Amino acid sequence: MGLTIEAVLQRARPVLPVLVLDDVALAVDLAAALQAGGVEVLEVTLRTERALDALAAIGKAFPSLLVGAGTLIHPEQFAEARDAGAQFVVSPGLTARLARAADDAGLPYLPAVSTPSEVLLALEYGYRSLKLFPANGNASIKLLNTLKGPFTGIRFCPTGGITAENLLNFLRLPNVTCVGGTWIAPSNLIRARAWDQITQMALEARALAASLEHRT
Ligand code: 3PG
Repeated sequence: MGLTIEAVLQRARPVLPVLVLDDVALAVDLAAALQAGGVEVLEVTLRTERALDALAAIGKAFPSLLVGAGTLIHPEQFAEARDAGAQFVVSPGLTARLARAADDAGLPYLPAVSTPSEVLLALEYGYRSLKLFPANGNASIKLLNTLKGPFTGIRFCPTGGITAENLLNFLRLPNVTCVGGTWIAPSNLIRARAWDQITQMALEARALAASLEHRT
């Protein structure tokens, strides 16, 4: 069997860095900084003009990293992402057309939900690992706890609002495989080429998560 989205999220745990890159020249150095911080999986969002070039550059420089494309909101972006070398794809929601495009592209897909009805829709399409977006602090923690009951076996990657401060509150939930976020590589640090600081934040997130694994 090929790569599954479940395997992608397991490998990403604790954190899937969500990258917003407008300067391709910084992409490889950023990926190196994250890799030095223990990151094995990252998501380049298609929110900037050069995002696909940045994704391709990272994929070429780091064959051992799993590189995905995020913020896919148009069906045609799935094939474009695959052709640029994306190994998985992520959307901030789910529609019938996006599900078809993901199937056609043949890539592991992480669609997003924010309500029980959307989880039901995702289940109809066969998705059992979902992004929870946005992750709104305590309200989303309550929601994830509630979803545990009816949706046994469904796993989530909360994203959109995760910080170093609330990371553990999400990671300790049994239905959360990993969290995603831009806080680990914020634009100001990327622009400043503060690679050591980004490595440090990635290492700190891992250390925090490891303290949790040891307790349970
Ligand atoms: C995403 O696209 O996954 C989120 O918008 C990232 O949200 P964050 O900036 O709060 O991490």
